[in-house]
Amino acid sequence: MNLQYVLSWSNCLKVVVITGASSGIGEALAHSFHNYGCKVVLASRRKSELERVKQDLIAKNIAGPRQEPVVIELDLADITQLEQFVEKVHEVCGKIDILINNGGISHRGSVIHTKMDVYCKIMDINYFGAVGLTLAALPKMMERKCGHIVFVSSVQGLMAIPDRSAYAASKHAMQAFGDSLRAEMHQHNINVSVLSPGYVKTAVSLNALTGSGDTHGVMDKSTANGFTAEYVAMKTVDMIVNNENELIVSQFLPRLAIFLRHAIPSLYFWIMAKRAVKT
Ligand SMILES: NC(=O)c1ccc[n+]([C@@H]2O[C@H](COP(=O)([O-])OP(=O)(O)OC[C@H]3O[C@@H](n4cnc5c(N)ncnc54)[C@H](OP(=O)(O)O)[C@@H]3O)[C@@H](O)[C@H]2O)c1
Repeated sequence: MNLQYVLSWSNCLKVVVITGASSGIGEALAHSFHNYGCKVVLASRRKSELERVKQDLIAKNIAGPRQEPVVIELDLADITQLEQFVEKVHEVCGKIDILINNGGISHRGSVIHTKMDVYCKIMDINYFGAVGLTLAALPKMMERKCGHIVFVSSVQGLMAIPDRSAYAASKHAMQAFGDSLRAEMHQHNINVSVLSPGYVKTAVSLNALTGSGDTHGVMDKSTANGFTAEYVAMKTVDMIVNNENELIVSQFLPRLAIFLRHAIPSLYFWIMAKRAVKT
């Protein structure tokens, strides 16, 4: 399938909203969709980083008509901002074709050493932020009878390892929400896709919260050796264009863990208990 053709018919410009566009996977997605001639809306908290991404996109030498990216600040943890954010996108761009719920934050810490407000913060950003934006975007998509909602979950949304309880729980919630939403939106011609990446070389472990709420500040070895964000963005675009319901983009070990969790749970629990003692 010709992606350029699918994403940017000259008479049907696609507006793609990407949360967490200031770095990592979101930034790479912004480059991919901009390259395909889409109008990208770059959203996150750090306006200066979003402006940097915007300038990088503008500086690119792409073939065909180009759309100027739009920067809109957004804090996913502030539920009161979410409707206003979507209204602003409609004011500036007229519509939303694809909403990519990518912005998120990870966790490093055992259950017993993780404070309740860390659980709330991670759930607010990773889960309620995505739910709130989706709820705000859906009515206009339903009116137009078209749209695509994408959730960037994680392999941690399909199994859970020690020291990631808050993160894995938020991504499990996202997966479940996505499955319910997909079923309900089928009759409205709105697509729902859930992406579950394994390790990706981004700032995710640096930005993760510890149990006390501090920033982890460490580049984990597995993250440093992960896929490039550009590779994951390319796979994500394919998933969207081919209207796949879900996609796992992962290394062998997380894939094996997902398989064991469902096929031989007792073995999986035993391995995870050993891992918890080790860490
Ligand atoms: N890297 C991996 O190994 C991996 C694996 C599986 C899934 N994922 C998922 O991929 C997504 C992107 O993460 P990444 O790997 O690209 O990490 P990243 O480089 O740390 O990017 C995280 C993005 O989320 C944004 N963000 C964080 N808190 C936010 C908030 N309160 N409101 C709005 N935006 C917020 C950040 O922007 P600001 O700081 O500017 O707000 C940043 O753009 C996340 O959902 C993550 O869980 C990552």
